[in-house]
Amino acid sequence: MRSPDLSFELAGVTFKNPVLTASGCFGYGAEQDGLCDISRLGGICTKGLSLAPRPGNPPPRIRETVAGMLNSIGLENIGIDAFIEEKVPLLTGVDTVVVANLFGVAVEDYARLCARADDCGRIDAVELNISCPNVHEGGVEFGVDPVMAAKVTAAARRSTSKPVIVKLSPNAGDRIVSVARAVEEEGADAVSLINTISGMAVDVRSRRPWIAKTYGGLSGPAIRPIALRMVHLVAGSVKMPLIGIGGISTWEDAAAFVLAGASAVQVGTACFVDPSAPERMASGLAEWVAEQGASSVSELVGALRSE
Ligand code: SIN
Repeated sequence: MRSPDLSFELAGVTFKNPVLTASGCFGYGAEQDGLCDISRLGGICTKGLSLAPRPGNPPPRIRETVAGMLNSIGLENIGIDAFIEEKVPLLTGVDTVVVANLFGVAVEDYARLCARADDCGRIDAVELNISCPNVHEGGVEFGVDPVMAAKVTAAARRSTSKPVIVKLSPNAGDRIVSVARAVEEEGADAVSLINTISGMAVDVRSRRPWIAKTYGGLSGPAIRPIALRMVHLVAGSVKMPLIGIGGISTWEDAAAFVLAGASAVQVGTACFVDPSAPERMASGLAEWVAEQGASSVSELVGALRSE
């Protein structure tokens, strides 16, 4: 029996399978070498990159919760120039798609970041982070407003010919559909959803929040049903491909997102538990596609039965 075609094509870029790592959960990629065979992944999304390096938020900035994790990292990163100079060479010869996750505090920042990414041959696609709940400027402020999300996308589209993915926020509620439509109209090639959901945890002994900045973004299996519904909702409203994110921990979870309408998935919090989890998911998905009698995973995208 021939093994099924797991590949996923996005605006001229081919991902060998639909399993990517999510931004912020896999460093800049090469650090994970040895813990995971990166070449077996469909792609990796880098940590969020800004124009200048950022120190991020003060600690504590991570807290495990029931079936999930709260984080308020605040987009600590080395900046796009250092990424291109120091980290990109480590990815030479790694046979996987590299998606640069980009974060700005002004619309113009996204244009400059995309232009910089456009000049770097090893960056295959960009993902616009308009959904981080942990920063005061930019981030989710853009992601909950269809007009701002459209402006950011238009600026990015003018600045790069590489595929543009826009990472959406669940904090927009059902307005996430309007945000997705707005970015599609401005030329986004795909949307990835969902980023984390704003949350809080309290240490009752010290009577302080566990997270120094009080609130954080909740991720992990706790948010999976919410993510699945949002993917299903958005899939019915746009034509562009969707990349599902939200507590995906097993191949069955990934398959559920495919059926709900995602052409690919990103694995985030599960990488902290087991960095090789995404690798195994790709094999599990291949067996599932064959078992379903399909010759490619794309045949199963949105193939949820209604009765
Ligand atoms: C963070 O760095 O605070 C998390 C990144 C994100 O939510 O996009």
